[in-house]
Amino acid sequence: MSDGLYLALFSIHGLVRGEEPELGRDPDTGGQVTYVLELTRALAERAEVERVDLITRRIFDDEVSDQYAEPVETLAPGTRLIRVEFGPREYLRKEDFWPYLDECEHSVLRHFREVGRVPDLLHSHYADAGRLGARLSRRLQIPLVHTGHSLGRIKRERLLDAGSTESQIERRFNISTRIQAEEEALEAASTVVTSTHQEAEEQWARYDAYEAGKMAVIPPGVSLDRFQPPDEDTDEDPPIRTTLLDFLRDPNKPMILALARPDPRKNIPCLVEAYGNAPDLQEEANLVLVLGTREDVRETDRESQKVFQKVFTLIDVHDLHGLVAYPKQHEPDDVPDLYRLAVGTGGVFVNPALTEPFGLTLIEAAASGLPVVATNDGGPRDILHYCDNGLLVDPLDPDDIADALREALSDPERWERWSKNGIEGVRRRFSWSTHVEEHLERVRPFLGASEPPPHIEKIFHADRLLVTDLDGTLLGDRETLQQLLERMDAASPAVVFGIATGRRLESARRALEEWSVPSPDVLITAVGSEIHYGLDDRVDEAWIRHIEKGWDREALERALEGTPGLRLQAPERQRRFKLSYHVDPEAAPDLQELRDRLAGEGLETRLIFSHDEFLDLLPQRASKGQAIAFLASRWGFPPSKVLVAGDSGNDADMLTGEVLGTVVGNYSPELEALHRTDTLYFATAPYAGGILEGIDHFEFL
Ligand code: GLC
Ligand code: MG
Repeated sequence: MSDGLYLALFSIHGLVRGEEPELGRDPDTGGQVTYVLELTRALAERAEVERVDLITRRIFDDEVSDQYAEPVETLAPGTRLIRVEFGPREYLRKEDFWPYLDECEHSVLRHFREVGRVPDLLHSHYADAGRLGARLSRRLQIPLVHTGHSLGRIKRERLLDAGSTESQIERRFNISTRIQAEEEALEAASTVVTSTHQEAEEQWARYDAYEAGKMAVIPPGVSLDRFQPPDEDTDEDPPIRTTLLDFLRDPNKPMILALARPDPRKNIPCLVEAYGNAPDLQEEANLVLVLGTREDVRETDRESQKVFQKVFTLIDVHDLHGLVAYPKQHEPDDVPDLYRLAVGTGGVFVNPALTEPFGLTLIEAAASGLPVVATNDGGPRDILHYCDNGLLVDPLDPDDIADALREALSDPERWERWSKNGIEGVRRRFSWSTHVEEHLERVRPFLGASEPPPHIEKIFHADRLLVTDLDGTLLGDRETLQQLLERMDAASPAVVFGIATGRRLESARRALEEWSVPSPDVLITAVGSEIHYGLDDRVDEAWIRHIEKGWDREALERALEGTPGLRLQAPERQRRFKLSYHVDPEAAPDLQELRDRLAGEGLETRLIFSHDEFLDLLPQRASKGQAIAFLASRWGFPPSKVLVAGDSGNDADMLTGEVLGTVVGNYSPELEALHRTDTLYFATAPYAGGILEGIDHFEFL
């Protein structure tokens, strides 16, 4: 294996593709998509980087291009866009991602395992990927970099200010979940990249997990090759000019250019108001509003429709026909042309957004040589500070906007200076190569500082999974146990070794020690209700989230109180997701009767009877078999590569199914019924000897 870095970036919502991303098509497909694509390509160009995967969601939906269903797209040599499946097949808005992140994590882990390598660094983008990244970074023990792009707390405040209520905001945007996810990302990340000082010091600073030392203000780059100043010798009339001619009476006047999604936050109506109130500006300059692309304005979302309605009304009220252009459509390639056209007229770029944390369009404008007038907020403030190429305005004050536009257009000498300053400043400060240089500089101390845990390394390189029950299966006969351990040891790197037991963790570890069994890679305890990895005592949280639905331990205990023949097991054998009884089979009602009774009270549970004396109640989705299926799916082990062995009732559901099931010779009566299952192997030897027989029978090792 080579020493080059393997980086994994996550940007999981919106429509992501390498060529002609559909920017502005919907609220989830905008600046972030450009950002991550550019960042990915720039990282891949670094000598120390061997491979970069940009991971996004795989979408099967007639409403969007088939391309989004392609599992892999090559962006550049060593650089892939990887689409992983999670949740429903169709396109989802990002607010609806939350229930599917565990599934996403599974798919990502499977991908890494296919690559055969744990990445050296994870970099998550936006809250959804942030939560995913936090979980992956904990699980794999590799550093996480996070970029917020925009923050839930700020959005909530803004919406509250605008008159929405908490519950409206919650319903529409799932905002508290988003904020919680941002906290998790901030907490887990070694480094949080922001585009501006304001984003770090005023926005992230409002989060509980904020630590100034983690923040890295590294402005994004712009692909400078797309955004060049005009060149009179080579530039031809670009296609978008024809479109503008349909709107403008005198197309040669200086162009006031605005380029923004039709989002109320972009504050375009206020700009039209400013222009509409200023006859001198109308005299002197045209206003060009490029507000995304639309087929039929009536089919855009409600917010966008409101924006268009205001804009169209203002054009009418102020009689701006012939002075304002608002093309319905444009291609991504028209964007650089628009800036250049505006430069050619001696125009100005204007961004009056209510808040502007990012300001990518300002950088593009500057790179093209177009002076800017922009909201006095984080992004523009930093950009104008570095470049000195325009003026800041109060976005709520149309007069202030009009004054600034007037000023920007009034002094040709200063216009020239601003134009030049922008071109140079941006090339110095806002290039992706400068960005990734700083980025890698910041994360270098964390790279390789911790190793992925041994069980992860093992799982990544193994191709088979052996899971055995403990009492009465693995343990019982020292001699055959020794033989089995030797066989396993010889096959070790290829086989993940798992235990699935009814015992709780400490008790299972104690038993393993007494029998001198080395620590397994995976330990499933409490009859499948808890999963642990390696030497880590923590329960797999994704598993908890998977099983906890519908589980009400207290209600179950109450419902069974006083049932003849049932006696609660000792407190230390009770677990959060396992309610256990001793059973007197003579006196107790049979399983079906109990099941019906609980169902009659609306209680969902799984009942497991074993050794003729134990009864366990578990969440519907928990059992040893379910836990193994979960593991196999997470890590991508097909059932034909999974061998399980057991001896009693609590093993029944893991033995059946498509996996290679082995029942050891000393099995208890509840398993008699399984004799009918023809895929199952019944060994004659007891205990570990039976497992060895199963291994040979299935030619597993
Ligand atoms: C183990 C557990 C016990 C459980 C039994 C059957 O003995 O300690 O609580 O009931 O397995 O699953
Ligand atoms: Mg057993």
